[in-house]
Amino acid sequence: MTACIVGWSHGKFGKLDGETSESLIVKAATEAIAHAGIEPKDVDVIYVGNMNGGFVRQEFHSSLALQAHPDLRFKPSTRVENACATGSAAIHMGLNTLAAGKARFVLVVGVEKMTELNSAQAGEVLIKASYVAEEANIEAGFAGIFGKITSAYFQRYGDKSDALAKIAVKAHKNGAKNPFAHFQKEFAYEFCRTPSDKNPFVAGPLKRTDCSPVTDGAAAVVLTDVGTALGMKQAIAFRATQHVNDFLPMSKRDIIKFEGPALAWKRALAEAKLDLLDLSFVESHDCFTSAELIEYEAMGLAAPGEGEKAIHEGWVERDGKLPVNVSGGLKAKGHPVGATGVSMHVMTAMQLHGSAPGALQLPKAKLGGVFNMGGAAVANYVSILEPLR
Ligand code: COA
Repeated sequence: MTACIVGWSHGKFGKLDGETSESLIVKAATEAIAHAGIEPKDVDVIYVGNMNGGFVRQEFHSSLALQAHPDLRFKPSTRVENACATGSAAIHMGLNTLAAGKARFVLVVGVEKMTELNSAQAGEVLIKASYVAEEANIEAGFAGIFGKITSAYFQRYGDKSDALAKIAVKAHKNGAKNPFAHFQKEFAYEFCRTPSDKNPFVAGPLKRTDCSPVTDGAAAVVLTDVGTALGMKQAIAFRATQHVNDFLPMSKRDIIKFEGPALAWKRALAEAKLDLLDLSFVESHDCFTSAELIEYEAMGLAAPGEGEKAIHEGWVERDGKLPVNVSGGLKAKGHPVGATGVSMHVMTAMQLHGSAPGALQLPKAKLGGVFNMGGAAVANYVSILEPLR
């Protein structure tokens, strides 16, 4: 156990007209500092997770966090980027800073303002998180990358469209309980399973309901060392954190194996001295329903090619043996890229603290797993969290 989350905040995700990345950062930072019960002057170091790449014209985000309070002026602040794992990357920078003894309190904000662009334009930005030299001409943005992965998976193991539709239904059923989610309504199985005008194919076998949406949002955490955390209002400890990067080109990997995510999970569970099923729940990176399906295999819940069992048998439902994405996941909660990893940690911290809003709270949440992924299984981060006391 190395460090703790002692304060957090999570804004509503969605198409937030009228908000800018600056206003989102300021709100998230202000609320997380207040939640931790510290003063802005107590913050030693700041990391701002933001992918951008053209979503908004403003590129240089680090000092926007200083707008939250005059006492943040002159604090060291750095923008962190690692594609869709940007939020977890920023948290890891915070943890490294604490481990180096360079700070007592670190503020980490994750933010993305995506909806100033339409979906096609957003796809042009997102495809930059592929290996551009070989993959940038794949159609339909990043959905095209996962369309290819899904087709390859279907070729090897058979058509799993039923499982993908059930994963989408689960995500939206859970998201309907989450007041922070982009979509807060349930989707029927037939709607998700059947291509239609309202649910067209986007890339390969992936339909619109298989994709996470284009979303605006921000979330923030305050981190500190364990000793300091013992005196704080609330403290959720990192029992394990692992980060595994794989080669970027898909041509250099068996892309349906998700070897990087599997290694990150294996190392994190070993570090925590736990089996996967010791966890009460997992927040996993369902940028597409097929990503979640393959992640069941990478985390060790099902054998390769058998991920569908986890959804068909109900293991990953809210009341199953390992609930996955009770928050609604990226699919229903939304995927504001730079905010996502921070959001996953905040959702997990809330569950473990027992303060998730209303019906979102799980009855028994003792240990939570987070898997956040940048690119197609390229930058892989696993955290295992538990209440400090
Ligand atoms: N899931 C379910 N419904 C969605 C949706 C999604 N992902 N995205 C949009 N919708 C709904 C909208 O709410 C809207 O509903 P309404 O008609 O009832 O108002 C309708 O679909 C049309 O929305 P629109 O934004 O015009 O859809 P689109 O076809 O332009 O975009 C996607 C849909 C899937 C292409 C887009 O969300 C996308 O590109 N997602 C992937 C983002 C991505 O790659 N992220 C990075 C992953 S690593």
